Amino acid sequence: MSQPMVLNTVADLRRQLARWRARRETVALVPTMGALHAGHISLGTIAKSRADHVVYTIFVNPTQFAPNEDFSAYPRTFADDCAKIAELGAEAVFAPTPAVMYPEGFATTISLTGPATAGLEDRFRPTHFAGVATVVAKLLIQAMPDLAVFGEKDFQQLAVIRQLTRDLDLPITIAGGPTLREADGLAMSSRNVYLSSEERATAPLLQRVLSEAAAAIQAGEDAEHVLNYGRERIAQGGFALDYLEWRDAKSLGLASRNKASRLLVAARIGKTRLIDNVGVAAGV
Ligand code: PAF
Repeated sequence: MSQPMVLNTVADLRRQLARWRARRETVALVPTMGALHAGHISLGTIAKSRADHVVYTIFVNPTQFAPNEDFSAYPRTFADDCAKIAELGAEAVFAPTPAVMYPEGFATTISLTGPATAGLEDRFRPTHFAGVATVVAKLLIQAMPDLAVFGEKDFQQLAVIRQLTRDLDLPITIAGGPTLREADGLAMSSRNVYLSSEERATAPLLQRVLSEAAAAIQAGEDAEHVLNYGRERIAQGGFALDYLEWRDAKSLGLASRNKASRLLVAARIGKTRLIDNVGVAAGV
């Protein structure tokens, strides 16, 4: 099991990718902020099955955190991350510093509408998607991979990235990887390490509410009633609810029963904010 090569500059990244491209080999990118868990590794497995080479990026992007958020506390576990990447058999990690990504004088930010303004995460994190879109656009342009893989757990983020890739004519396939869950249903997240043992015991409630609400909507129950009941259960379970919404799976606009849709939730427990989502089948 050989260690992945660690590339710290855009020039190093491009030099390595050019070597592979010269041999007509394909490249998949897995952008992350590190603190890798099994969910991130499953994205790498998808990447590996669809390209000759896999490059992880590890960069805790300061511009997607608001000043009151957890940028400095965000877990940083680079050596462990590299060991996991090596075990998977991915060859390279691009790990730029903030100065590489945002050199002195940096002055460009992507401005978004569409799924980025659907009234979900954007309502509670108004500057978040501009930061995500700008860093993801930079990573995609720096690497120009054939494929990039992102987790469905950040469902609105995935929709924003698909939109920006289309709008900027980037010749890159965007793939979504299903959310991986702990045995009790909690969605895997780098932020789960913040949970106290009591909060950790409560946290799977979000997934239970989502799956029961999805089943109720699929069974034909009134959606507003189902959502209100779910909201009450989450609040009574000890969470401060940001939202529980039923949306169209593509546009993130209002859902309809004859198109694929998604239930999405965000709620805070103690100091930790958790998000999750599940699919609702079309034709219900
Ligand atoms: O999902 C994440 O880890 C981040 O938002 C991403 C896509 C790597 C951009 O910093």
